[in-house]
Amino acid sequence: MSQGSLFLVLAIVMAVAPDETIEKPTAAQVVAQPGFLVIAHRGDSGAFPENTLPAFQSAVELAADLVELDYYHSADGVPFAFHDRTLDRTSNATEVLGREKIPTGSLAWSQLRELDAGAWFDPRFQGTPIPTLAESLDVIQQGSITLIERKEGDAATCIQLLREKDLLKHVVVQAFDWEFLADCRRLAPELILGALGSKDLSEDRLDEIQRAGAQVVGWNHQDLQRQHIEAVHRRGMKIWAYTVNDVERAQQLIDDGIDGIITDYPAKIMQLRP
Ligand code: G3P
Ligand code: CA
Repeated sequence: MSQGSLFLVLAIVMAVAPDETIEKPTAAQVVAQPGFLVIAHRGDSGAFPENTLPAFQSAVELAADLVELDYYHSADGVPFAFHDRTLDRTSNATEVLGREKIPTGSLAWSQLRELDAGAWFDPRFQGTPIPTLAESLDVIQQGSITLIERKEGDAATCIQLLREKDLLKHVVVQAFDWEFLADCRRLAPELILGALGSKDLSEDRLDEIQRAGAQVVGWNHQDLQRQHIEAVHRRGMKIWAYTVNDVERAQQLIDDGIDGIITDYPAKIMQLRP
C-alpha cells in the first residue's frame, strides 16, 4: 500500500474512531514499504518555490511518501528551511541588504523572516517567507513524512526539536556529514537516518555508513548502478536516488530495485507506479 493510500485509510478510520486510537504511520513503516517511495525534493519544487510552505503543502496534497527539505541555523540559532550556502539565488537578500554572497547562516532570524523566498521563482509567489524548520514540520507531518536534510547545525538542537514535537519516530534525518548522523544516533536510537553521498559507493563507504548508524543510503543517481543497489540490499539497508527528474532514468532505477526516487516532480514520478 502506498503512503498516500495509508493516509487515506487512516483518514477514514479517523472519521469513525475516537482520537486516542489513531496512530500515524512511523517512518520505519514507510521506509520498509515494498516498491519505490516517491520523495518530493525541497517540496513540490518543480511547481513551487523550493523549501517554502506552499511547496511542502503541494507535495502533501500530491501524497508524496516523503517530503524532503534542507535546513540551516540562523545566527541566533533558529533552524530554518533553505538549500544554498548563500541567500542570493532563492531570496531577495541581495536586493534588501545591498550585497552579494550573503552566507545563509549569517543573519538573525528576525532578518531572515523579512526576506522574500518566492518572487525569484515566479512573481505569483511574492511575499512567501522562509519557513522555520518547526513550521515546515507542522505542514508536512499533516499528511506525509519529512526527510530532513541537515546542511548546518548541531545534532542536539535537531533532536530536541523532534523530541518536543514527538516526531522522532515519524521523520527521517539525512546528511552528507556522517559524523552528524553518528551524533544523532547516540542521542536518539529510535530515529531513522539516511547517509548522503556521491561518486564511488564502495564496500568501505558502506562500512562507514553502517558505523554511523544509518538505515538508508541516499546517493547521486548519476553514480548508481544495479550492483550498488544490490550491495546496499545485501546489508539490509534501503537506497534512495537523488535527484531524478527524468522519467526514463527513474524507470531504469526502479527496474534495478531502487527503494526511493527523490525528485522535483513527484506527480510525474508517481505515474510510474504499477
Ligand atoms: O535528498 C538528497 C539531495 O537533496 C541532496 O542534494 O544538494 O539537493 O541537497 P541537495
Ligand atoms: Ca537536500
